[in-house]
Amino acid sequence: MRAARRRQSAEPQTITSLIGELYTQYPFPRVTALHRVEPVHFHLNRMNYQLGRRREDALRPDSRIWVAGCGTEQSILTALRFPEATILATDLSPRSLEVSKRLAGQLGIKNVEFQHQNLLESTFRDDFDIIFCTGVLPVLEDPLKGMRLLRQALRSGGAGLIMAYNEQHRHFFRQFQRAVETLAGGPRNLKRKHELAMQLLRAVRASDKCGGMAQTLRMLGNVEDDIPTFADTLLQPYEIAYDIDSLYALVTDAGLRLSWPTPHVWDLARYVDDPALLAAWRKLDAREQQRVVNLLAAERAPFFGFYVEHADRPAPKPYSKAELRGMRLMHRTRHTVYEIQDERVVATHESRPYQRSRDRLVEPPLLRRLTPTRNETWVLPADVEPVLEACDGTRTAGKIAAAFADRYSSEEVMTLLSQLLSPRIGLLAPVFQ
Ligand SMILES: C[S@@+](CC[C@H](N)C(=O)[O-])C[C@H]1O[C@@H](n2cnc3c(N)ncnc32)[C@H](O)[C@@H]1O
Repeated sequence: MRAARRRQSAEPQTITSLIGELYTQYPFPRVTALHRVEPVHFHLNRMNYQLGRRREDALRPDSRIWVAGCGTEQSILTALRFPEATILATDLSPRSLEVSKRLAGQLGIKNVEFQHQNLLESTFRDDFDIIFCTGVLPVLEDPLKGMRLLRQALRSGGAGLIMAYNEQHRHFFRQFQRAVETLAGGPRNLKRKHELAMQLLRAVRASDKCGGMAQTLRMLGNVEDDIPTFADTLLQPYEIAYDIDSLYALVTDAGLRLSWPTPHVWDLARYVDDPALLAAWRKLDAREQQRVVNLLAAERAPFFGFYVEHADRPAPKPYSKAELRGMRLMHRTRHTVYEIQDERVVATHESRPYQRSRDRLVEPPLLRRLTPTRNETWVLPADVEPVLEACDGTRTAGKIAAAFADRYSSEEVMTLLSQLLSPRIGLLAPVFQ
């Protein structure tokens, strides 16, 4: 028993050191552009809305935020999006922290402190209102311990945004990683693994005899031009992925409650259109519904990006119609794009959240990464534009509906506003301050 425990503890240390070496050799992600969204607090307000918060329990602009496993750009994006917050950014990779520090210096960012730290050795207790921890859980040697430490660090009433791997997306990548490791004679020699992975990538991608593996590698596009993504995807010494049930078990065992920022992605109607099947599916409870979607959607299944809150905090009630009418609304007007080359800001320009194309408003491709619903865009009739523009943060939805009474019924405007508010479109957020 003792020996078994010792063996278990020796192995994880190796995993953490291998992961640390990988991200020190290949800081991730490659930073090419940073997006500052205006108006200020838009992200915070949208987050509060997705969490079903009310004014009295809304997360505040002066929150204390932990970006755990921040990589190269996440702390900078967080500082731009939450300018009044106090941010701590930690990572295992000193080089990722250096990249972040350089960018922070160039952008004059003063509200982030950087710290070299293994998340699994963190000792925070009730220190943070908001925690971002995305892409870290998959490579943590002890994910449950990691989740418990995140819970310990989170104040009651706070919220974390976590990203874990969905096993539906990872099967072929994990196989590829293991093939590389076998050919390289073990996980240690990163240079050899890099060479072999590049060779394998080219050979398998070009092959018509490797089925789903070749298809998956083709989906990566020209990953040779983005070495951090190549390494993050194909050179991992270790990763963990979840299905719906193991994900809920992990979160629950850590004393947390899970909710989805974009629940619409779990609608089976997005995948199949058999009315009888959909009717049977609607009778299931929420977790069963998600299980079915995840099983059937296969590699198209949603990403596992989710909120966590303390488990003893009850799930919020849906907003009532009256609450919606009373919400002051702000729209995403424009945003600033900082173009980055060789870890330096080389250009800055302003952009709008949508493009007008004759009688349509369309989300431009560049902006899609700002929305949590990746691989999805929206098209709206252009006549919604005046309603959208009226949402300047000062007027309630009810007042806006009244202002358009000559053109639309109040019901029509309220329906439109709730569509624009929905995470699926995300052009509006209520003002919570
Ligand atoms: C896939 S990257 C994600 C980076 C960033 N969170 C993002 O979403 O862009 C994973 C990051 O987690 C860091 N990491 C992995 N294990 C860690 C640990 N035990 N403690 C702290 N950071 C860790 C890596 O160094 C790397 O920067």
